[in-house]
Amino acid sequence: MNICVVGAGYVGLVTGSCLADIGHRVICIDNDEGKIRLLNAGQMPIYEPYLEDLVQQNRKRGSLSFSTDLSRGAKDSEVIFICVGTPPLENGEADLSFVEKVIREVGATADSHKLVVEKSTVPVQTGEYINRTLKIYSREEKGHFDVASNPEFLREGSAVLDFFHPDRIVIGVDNRRTEDVLRQIYLPILEGTFRCPVHSSCLPATRPLFFVTDLKSAELIKHASNSFLATKISFINAIGEICERVGADVQKVAEGMGLDPRIGKEFLKAGLGFGGFCFPKDLQAFVCIGEKYGYDFALLKEVEKINKSRIDVAMEKLKKHLWVLRGKTIAFLGLAFKPQTDDIRFAPAMELIRRLREEGCHIRAFDPQAMKKASSEIPEIFYGRDPYEVAEGAEALVLATEWPEFLDLDWDKMRRVMARPFILDGRNFLPRSRVTALGFEYVGMGR
Ligand code: UGA
Repeated sequence: MNICVVGAGYVGLVTGSCLADIGHRVICIDNDEGKIRLLNAGQMPIYEPYLEDLVQQNRKRGSLSFSTDLSRGAKDSEVIFICVGTPPLENGEADLSFVEKVIREVGATADSHKLVVEKSTVPVQTGEYINRTLKIYSREEKGHFDVASNPEFLREGSAVLDFFHPDRIVIGVDNRRTEDVLRQIYLPILEGTFRCPVHSSCLPATRPLFFVTDLKSAELIKHASNSFLATKISFINAIGEICERVGADVQKVAEGMGLDPRIGKEFLKAGLGFGGFCFPKDLQAFVCIGEKYGYDFALLKEVEKINKSRIDVAMEKLKKHLWVLRGKTIAFLGLAFKPQTDDIRFAPAMELIRRLREEGCHIRAFDPQAMKKASSEIPEIFYGRDPYEVAEGAEALVLATEWPEFLDLDWDKMRRVMARPFILDGRNFLPRSRVTALGFEYVGMGR
């Protein structure tokens, strides 16, 4: 099928290259000329495991191309996936101006039937507005467009894996024809007949469910899923506060809770809290949706509050153990909001660094992927070539992102180069008994 993907950010680039890989002809559109130039030169604007290979291979095969020309992309395609950003406005609502601009242009230039699929995370009822806008700006007869919702559940750092091995593919449609087209697009995934770029041989494990519903319910599934996962994280962080006060271990509590399949063990990791460009903005947007329709989503407000307070908790721990913060040198391992990504948007590490700098601390930092982005946001701190260099002379080390390679460091060497062997493990990631046996003072979160 000829598909146009509008927006070459995390969602668009992954969706576009994966759709090309399963047999479609995809054109990816972005209005950022620099980004398109980079992609056309064979370079990547973001780091995401397996993505670069997918992009290169599919460009070479001619199944994936990049352009800034939306009208050409829209004209040449039967299906248009909207993957542009929906960043938060001042009041927390999602900014839909990019979506609207794209829809107006698609409406004005399309000269044949188009299926428009919203993939960006949007507030409920956006599909209705899209439908209306397409009709207003279209020069053709009414009924020239179909609109569907197909929320993405891609996690940064494992987005390619998530595309090929989803638990479910959710689509919101208002007619059978649209359902059939979307089923056809995802058929290789649904039937397990794709070549997996992540595993050399894929076991024919359980097939994903193709969940078909109405447009509004599909839109809500996305916001409700992200908000629920964020709620789990804040819940376990609140439990961690009780654990610390009574001398229990939040990791043990989470393990015991997670054994109940109704609860599940995922998303019960206590620590510095959630970051990234999805959970914080989606929570705020969902609270705003509630307000718009007369419902006070107090539960989610509390989830946000608990998450913000994680940075205060970390500050208090550092103050308590280092006594005076002014003039202290603090080493950071990890800057990205989670491992396997270079994304630092709303990353707890970045916020903690800002707060410590306000207190007069000197920061030395290392991250396997995120240093380029971090140094353009906070250029004033020292970025080291490796963890040993940043640990040199530090009075404390904060582990802020659980990159697996940090486990394999020579922790004895780390201890020797530090001025004071103190670790604040913001992700409860390091083996406590091993590092304390080496002579470190170890402080975790909620234990
Ligand atoms: C999230 C969802 O997991 C995806 O399903 C969704 O598609 C995506 O948002 C989106 O809306 O686009 P992502 O933001 O990439 O994906 O990252 P997650 O793996 O969900 O982690 C989010 C944050 O929660 C990270 O900062 C992580 O460190 C934190 N987290 C996660 C915890 O603090 N504890 C946990 O137990 C799990």
